[in-house]
Amino acid sequence: MPKTRAPLKTPAAHSSGGASAAMPKALLDFAANLMGAEDPVLENIRRKTPEKGLPPISIGPQEGKILETLARSCGARKIVEIGTLAGYSACYLAKALGSEGVVHTVEYDVRHAAVARQNIAGAGLSDRVIVHEGAALDVLPKLESEGPFDVCFIDADKANYHRYLRWAVGNVRSGGLIIGDNAYLFGKLHLEPKQAGEDAAGIPAMREFLKTLADLNLFSSCAMIPTSEGMAVAVRR
Ligand SMILES: C[S@@+](CC[C@H](N)C(=O)[O-])C[C@H]1O[C@@H](n2cnc3c(N)ncnc32)[C@H](O)[C@@H]1O
Repeated sequence: MPKTRAPLKTPAAHSSGGASAAMPKALLDFAANLMGAEDPVLENIRRKTPEKGLPPISIGPQEGKILETLARSCGARKIVEIGTLAGYSACYLAKALGSEGVVHTVEYDVRHAAVARQNIAGAGLSDRVIVHEGAALDVLPKLESEGPFDVCFIDADKANYHRYLRWAVGNVRSGGLIIGDNAYLFGKLHLEPKQAGEDAAGIPAMREFLKTLADLNLFSSCAMIPTSEGMAVAVRR
């Protein structure tokens, strides 16, 4: 079972990402606009998520474009996503696939899964996204026969990130990508667990996750994409 159901992202995750005194939001938004507006169907999914009673903790449009670009860059056809919410990031991942591709996305909250299925259908992507209901540590072993996978995107309970990574190492192909969102752990990654309140259990898990991504026996390279939440990515050796 998941160890925590605390909010996994702050609403600020919807910003352009990385805003700071040195890099003002106006500049980030200007640059992002030069690179194309958010797909209106996906924007509608993101904006209506809170109206449907779900927390506003999806990735933002810039992170979505990063995911789509990464998935396209490795020619992804089979993707696993851990943490569906309303299906926003699953749609970006699905856009990267050819018509034969599939995103398996895992969600333990039945309400979230139901909204995600509606949204994915509305985006015309039901033929390439399967929403699996259940706790990820129970569902992932059942997906193994569909692998090996090209991409695993981890975006659920932080206290299990190191466990999800262990699964992904065994089930993502050589040259495939493992991506983890919220790698800065809401700004608490560097703190002592006792200073981190409800995110305490996430601290050792996220640190182990990041150290493992840097293991050159397992990954040929890794990087932290400095979005506002931190998106870690590594290429499976
Ligand atoms: C941050 S949200 C995912 C956002 C989504 N990836 C997006 O950007 O559109 C995390 C989701 O993971 C789900 N979740 C949390 N722990 C889980 C677990 N152990 N197994 C499956 N889903 C889990 C939550 O219910 C929530 O819907």
